[in-house]
Amino acid sequence: MEEQIREIAGRYFPAENIESVRVMNGRAIITLVNLAENAALDEKVRQEVNKTFGIEKVSVIYTASRQNTGLRPEEPKWQMPGVKKIIAVASGKGGVGKSTTSVNLALALANLGLKTALFDADIYGPSVPTMLGYEGVGPVSEDGKTFEPFLYMGIKSMSIGTLIDRDVPLIWRGAKACGAIEQLMTEVRWGDIDVMVIDMPPGTGDIQITLSQKIDLAGAVIVSTPQDIALIDAVKGVNMFKKVNVPILGIIENMSYYICEKCGARADIFGHEGAKQTAEKLGVPFLGEIPLHIAIRENSDNGTPIVMADPEGPYTRAYEEIAAKIKAGLGL
Ligand SMILES: Nc1ncnc2c1ncn2[C@@H]1O[C@H](COP(=O)(O)OP(=O)(O)OP(=O)(O)O)[C@@H](O)[C@H]1O
Ligand SMILES: [Mg+2]
Repeated sequence: MEEQIREIAGRYFPAENIESVRVMNGRAIITLVNLAENAALDEKVRQEVNKTFGIEKVSVIYTASRQNTGLRPEEPKWQMPGVKKIIAVASGKGGVGKSTTSVNLALALANLGLKTALFDADIYGPSVPTMLGYEGVGPVSEDGKTFEPFLYMGIKSMSIGTLIDRDVPLIWRGAKACGAIEQLMTEVRWGDIDVMVIDMPPGTGDIQITLSQKIDLAGAVIVSTPQDIALIDAVKGVNMFKKVNVPILGIIENMSYYICEKCGARADIFGHEGAKQTAEKLGVPFLGEIPLHIAIRENSDNGTPIVMADPEGPYTRAYEEIAAKIKAGLGL
């Protein structure tokens, strides 16, 4: 009977996606692999099995191939030929310094001799154009089909912000936002890139999950500030990437501590080492800490990120140390 039920299911689903058919205790269980859910087809299979064998309980279960994540089955990843490794810089919570970290890490990775790209996928608040000084400039296309990346201090970059008018509040449906990101990302002439850094939208919702599945990620970096409340969200971020089988390259503690310019005293404004302890608890690497400093903020906001503005300074060194760990983690 199982073979015949498989044949019925085969009328509606590709045979290679029918993982198994079991009949147990008067119930038929059909397991499908790597397919998007389709309730209408499920119903047809159910009716036919019911009509042919009188089995009323027919369950159609969808699974992903690598493991059953409970998420969308696997679909093809977005294609960016020439881009070797892609890393996502993410945070569970907004405003923790994800963009500042993405930009400075990209510059630091380039300083280590890697051909580096930076893609700003933050549909909620794209800030890379401001940080790299191309705010208000639209993407340029020479052939009418593909876009030229923006070039800045040796890194190539593109931002979803070039397609969004900042002053017009846009309520983007998930699919639309992801479609726009896919289009922009895959239609840029990146050329040969060793590592691409992606500034992700903050949080762990549907859009973030879809992006993590669609982009062929070599790893994820989680940025957190030291407060408990930010760390709870950092844990959510780590768990989201684990669910979709993206390796965690590590956690960075941003706005870790403050050194008084006048007296040199150190103040742990938001507490200290919380991210390190969280990383240990989760069994993921701790990549390092970046202090809270006015120069980091000012230079981000005026288009000259600190790694560029103060190439020999202590903050640049901190970013470069983290970049070196990421480079090693990626096997580059
Ligand atoms: N280490 C730091 N020292 C001082 N200021 C910082 C530091 N990191 C980030 N900032 C500042 O904090 C603000 C928020 O940082 P940023 O925009 O990078 O965060 P984000 O996580 O990308 O935010 P969003 O969730 O809105 O995208 C910015 O004004 C930035 O300049
Ligand atoms: Mg940001």
